[in-house]
Amino acid sequence: MGLMDGKVGLVVGVANDRSYAWHIANEIYAHGGTCAFAHIPGEKNARRTQRAAEKITPDPILYECNAGSDEDIDTLFASYAKDHDRLDFLVHSIAYADRDWLQLGMFAKTPRQAYLDAIDISAYTLAAMAARAKPLMTKNGGGSIMAMSYYGSEKVVLGYNVMGVAKSCLEATTRYLAAELGPEGIRVNTISGGYLRTLASSAVGGTDDLEIRAAEKAPLRRTTEGSDVGKTAVYLASDLSSGVTGENIYVDCGVNIIGA
Ligand SMILES: NC(=O)c1ccc[n+]([C@@H]2O[C@H](COP(=O)([O-])OP(=O)(O)OC[C@H]3O[C@@H](n4cnc5c(N)ncnc54)[C@H](O)[C@@H]3O)[C@@H](O)[C@H]2O)c1
Repeated sequence: MGLMDGKVGLVVGVANDRSYAWHIANEIYAHGGTCAFAHIPGEKNARRTQRAAEKITPDPILYECNAGSDEDIDTLFASYAKDHDRLDFLVHSIAYADRDWLQLGMFAKTPRQAYLDAIDISAYTLAAMAARAKPLMTKNGGGSIMAMSYYGSEKVVLGYNVMGVAKSCLEATTRYLAAELGPEGIRVNTISGGYLRTLASSAVGGTDDLEIRAAEKAPLRRTTEGSDVGKTAVYLASDLSSGVTGENIYVDCGVNIIGA
């Protein structure tokens, strides 16, 4: 019997088969669950997500959603509800900041709008999606919501800049959501993933040798793989984590525990 047998959910943020969201969906299927996929609008994005999702399941259900639009988020959850009779888990694996401000020495110069956009797409959208997920989850007694964070929320990672601020906001948002939605049986957590080369992470300046540095520093002496995060996502989406909410779980081969 699979840990995810009978569980159905929505995974937001598969850009390609290197995305953390892809690894999460892949492990969910490997453990008996199923999911629909939401991607940013555009033909090219739809094709890329379709190609990646087909590596997991032959006929993936795809929705498009620009998370910066409340209307798009409404439509996404309405479409999901029309096609599915339950929502057991929601994976939020999206982030955005203008790469101009993710360069060494550029944090103090971040313009107001770029700062607000980073927090909007990378953190506020978790609350916006959780609000729409709530009625669908409570219908079946609850569910599990998770989002992706990074060490730069707690400590300064040079170049991560405004994205670090957005990740702090995401983790705080997670705790407030966990407190408010807990009575409905909805758990909300973040996974703080180690560095993985993806479209999003390649926008951050000064990360060329981050993989090598992380592997040297990590107690496990290796870099984090997508499947490491995927398996923790299965733990969070499944009943194995039934008593866990409001937490930030590091899946980084231990990098975060090393001071010097
Ligand atoms: N790669 C890493 O090293 C790393 C480490 C820790 C946490 N994370 C986090 O993991 C999550 C996924 O990133 P990834 O590294 O897999 O990169 P990725 O580029 O594969 O995924 C980022 C996703 O965000 C989506 N997105 C951006 N703006 C959007 C919008 N307005 N509406 C809808 N979708 C939008 C993109 O389309 C893409 O699918 C992000 O939250 C990222 O910060 C990444």
